[in-house]
Amino acid sequence: MANVVVVGAQWGDEGKGKIVDWLSERADVIARFQGGHNAGHTLVIDGKVYKLNALPSGVVRGGKLSVIGNGVVLDPWHLVSEIAKIREQGVTITPETLMIAENTALIMPYHGELDRAREAQVAVGKIGTTGRGIGPCYEDKVGRRVIRVADLADQATLELRVDRALVHHNALRAGLGLEAVDRDALIAALNAIAAEILQYAAPVWKVMNELRRAGKRILFEGAQGSLLDIDFGTYPYVTSSNVIAGQAATGVGLGPNAIDFVLGIVKAYTTRVGEGPFPTELHDADGERLGTRGHEFGTVTGRKRRCGWFDAALVRQTCAISGINGIALTKLDVLDGFETIKICTGYMLDGQALDYLPTAADQQARCTPVYEEIEGWSESTEGARSWADLPGAAIKYVRRVEELIGCPVAMLSTSPERDDTILVTDPFED
Ligand code: IMP
Repeated sequence: MANVVVVGAQWGDEGKGKIVDWLSERADVIARFQGGHNAGHTLVIDGKVYKLNALPSGVVRGGKLSVIGNGVVLDPWHLVSEIAKIREQGVTITPETLMIAENTALIMPYHGELDRAREAQVAVGKIGTTGRGIGPCYEDKVGRRVIRVADLADQATLELRVDRALVHHNALRAGLGLEAVDRDALIAALNAIAAEILQYAAPVWKVMNELRRAGKRILFEGAQGSLLDIDFGTYPYVTSSNVIAGQAATGVGLGPNAIDFVLGIVKAYTTRVGEGPFPTELHDADGERLGTRGHEFGTVTGRKRRCGWFDAALVRQTCAISGINGIALTKLDVLDGFETIKICTGYMLDGQALDYLPTAADQQARCTPVYEEIEGWSESTEGARSWADLPGAAIKYVRRVEELIGCPVAMLSTSPERDDTILVTDPFED
């Protein structure tokens, strides 16, 4: 039995939802291992649209165990409302179908306020965060002052944790011109949802190891994309967690040998929400066209996504860092009708050719993309279910992408419909 990790191989929004749903039908356990409700996962099942933020995509399918691992930062109030909304759509969520690691860090209202205040106050260097408190919560986790799920079960511990956190936060808030946190109101608010959250709390590391030994199929559901990784992304314009495949094991309490196949989700062109370098970004009619045809608006913040040509150098880099075994190439149909299509194969930096994006911000800013032009196709690829349905030029494009990134296509997705997929390799069977 194979355990599969799904990660975004660009800046997020690669179309993970559909692929994760397709795989989750074949899995027994679906686990989130990083990020939080900054993620927006849209699933379309039998014409019904489900929008998930913190909940693993498996919750909408019966008979699966969904797991929120310790690598996640969890806003308990948002989770409660997300569960309520998804229940209204007829989905059953019980402690038998949802499990939250006891050592998961909790996002408090002051994390979101700090996130938004910082973004509002800096004149230059805004990150363009989702404003949901993700970064400040991870900071507190590393700073050893976060409140964790297990702390909700004991009043004395909870109060101690809150007091420790507020020493830090009230000092920061004073500097930012924010009111001090009302300690008693916060403790009361936490007590009000403690029972609801604690019913799902479990030693996830133990359960996951048992499930693995029992031969259950585990799907690790990544959020965001590798170029937003805290270490390997375009720092500081990144999210605050490790989003690459190596985090999947750490983020639920399994060893790295639990991972059998890493599937990277790759969009046939590139998009990015928020600030930061983007070498192949287009500011012309081609960029507008990609955005319009690809419906490129953020699901969490509604922001218009920046669009550009496919950057093979960056995806080659993320394939290496995540150990991607195969990619799922999505949204090829958005390229239908372009006379010529460009692929970035590397960069020029101060007269030197580079086959990767350097780390230093000033060098990244001076890198200019080196493009290869590929002939486009006029036919529609939307809804193709076999290679024979694709125009020759589209197949050539896919093959060139494979060559340049050094990784084979395992799946090709040709529309949001789940059956509009060409399967080359089933990651669970590989
Ligand atoms: P944060 O994760 O809210 O701190 O935001 C940091 C950066 O990551 C910003 O550029 C966000 O736009 C980006 N980001 C966070 N979550 C997602 C996501 O799920 N998809 C795409 N971009 C994201």
